[in-house]
Amino acid sequence: MRIGRVLISAEQIQARLAEMGAQITADYRGKDLLLVAVLKGAFMVMADLSRHIALPVDLDFMAVSSYGEATRTSGVVRILKDLDREISGRHVLIVEDIVDSGLTLQYLRRNLEVRRPASLEIATLLSKSGLQVVPVSVRYMGFEIPPDFVIGYGLDYLGQYRNLPYVAVMEEGEEPAEGTPSGA
Ligand code: IMP
Ligand code: MG
Repeated sequence: MRIGRVLISAEQIQARLAEMGAQITADYRGKDLLLVAVLKGAFMVMADLSRHIALPVDLDFMAVSSYGEATRTSGVVRILKDLDREISGRHVLIVEDIVDSGLTLQYLRRNLEVRRPASLEIATLLSKSGLQVVPVSVRYMGFEIPPDFVIGYGLDYLGQYRNLPYVAVMEEGEEPAEGTPSGA
């Protein structure tokens, strides 16, 4: 596997997160807002989006892992780290990196809803078009992208590439080997 075409540049990501942050600031003014990021993928979105929110916010993190192949979700989610505190009566905004099948967010939404937050909404940087197995209502969405496997800006392939400041398409295959004799 290798890094393919850059889909969304670092500049485009920051510009969009600034817009989303401004919208969130307007929507939650005067409310007790708790941002909940889903580790590991959403760590960069959380860091950058939260800096564009001009409100006194509280941050918390959940770590989940979905069983399945490297590039596909099974829908079975395991909570590796739960929230530190209760969320009842608080305005909770889930911060995600990407919505693919929607199964992870559907699970999370149900899991958090029973804890009786005052409100529960979702912000995601990316959403894949046409692939949602379950419909997830996303309040704040950064970019809709084609249904390719992408890496960077928190998104990984087998644990790597999360540190890329941009989002790129993951390409199949190795770099072409040089000096391979043809027809020898
Ligand atoms: P879903 O449950 O199918 O919506 O998938 C959600 C999770 O799968 C995301 O939070 C990511 O961790 C991972 N994921 C989905 N699509 C991609 C991708 O294109 N690249 C990297 N990770 C992905
Ligand atoms: Mg994730």
